[in-house]
Amino acid sequence: MGIGDIMKRIAVLTSGGDCPGMNACIRAVVRYGIVAGLEVFGIFRGYQGLIKGELKQLRPTSVSNIIGRGGTVLKTARSVEFMTEDGQRKAVKVLKKNKIDGLITIGGNGTFKGTNVLADRWKIAAIGIPATIDNDISGTDFSIGSDTAVNTALDAIDKIRDTATSLERIFVVEVMGRSEGFIAVAVGLSGGAEDVLVPAIKYDINKICEDITKGRRRGKVSWIIVVSEGVATGAEIADLIQKKTGYETRATTLGHIQRGGAPTAFDRILASRLGAEAVQALIDGQRGKMVAIVSGQIKMIALDAPPTQLKRQRKLDQKFYKLIRILAT
Ligand code: F6P
Repeated sequence: MGIGDIMKRIAVLTSGGDCPGMNACIRAVVRYGIVAGLEVFGIFRGYQGLIKGELKQLRPTSVSNIIGRGGTVLKTARSVEFMTEDGQRKAVKVLKKNKIDGLITIGGNGTFKGTNVLADRWKIAAIGIPATIDNDISGTDFSIGSDTAVNTALDAIDKIRDTATSLERIFVVEVMGRSEGFIAVAVGLSGGAEDVLVPAIKYDINKICEDITKGRRRGKVSWIIVVSEGVATGAEIADLIQKKTGYETRATTLGHIQRGGAPTAFDRILASRLGAEAVQALIDGQRGKMVAIVSGQIKMIALDAPPTQLKRQRKLDQKFYKLIRILAT
């Protein structure tokens, strides 16, 4: 299918880690697509399901009552086979056999690497929609699911603060977020954490312990340190702090709780807008791009610019990070 060809049949898949809002996005793709006169197919289990030909035509009622549900009704997977040329060839064969003119992928950086390969090497009309709790996709201010994940983690932090204050304890809370730590920083600022540790920024455990001791003397009765995965485990940091300060310290790992639950209104709106825009982009002849949200406006960003997966990653704003420490005084 070349640029400018007419779209008749499109397919949608979710890939990589699931996140709240994926269902709202699938719903938008299906219903916007059908209203625009397209046939819409759902591919189950991401790229792996595509290789195996697991697809089914979706109707408006196939996506009834899923806007508020976490996870993905299309299931998801991390496919190793799709990383190989042979796997990609099989996937393209399935698309051609089923006369799919355009593909919409919903996922994170790993998913987009695959979308880019499909568009660039195999000339498939493909558009990506950013969806990951990590919010680490370069080129978009938000990815679907990140607002819900931060609110889930914030709810936990608020609850931990209650017990930390009552028992005058130090708490270390470990959150997800891969290599950048956007969840940690967002939840640290919104939850009033005293410290946040992220992989990209060096930390000094002795300084942290000194601050805790000084804080105690000033009358600070609780202390919450948010640790992003990849720095160390929450338990390791808690152990060090207890040994060095002598204060009772506990660790909590929030884990996969952050990936589930009903999406926030923000994520549902974002998912609905991006889903509809992705379909429209295919109809308009756009290929190999991501639909992004930048300062509230929808933008199309080329998936091959910048070309490597690493560079596609969004970087932490250190000013934002420093504000946490200032406000924790
Ligand atoms: O990308 C989403 C995410 O939840 C990351 O924050 C985390 O590092 C990873 O997925 C966990 O993946 P899995 O569920 O496969 O262990």
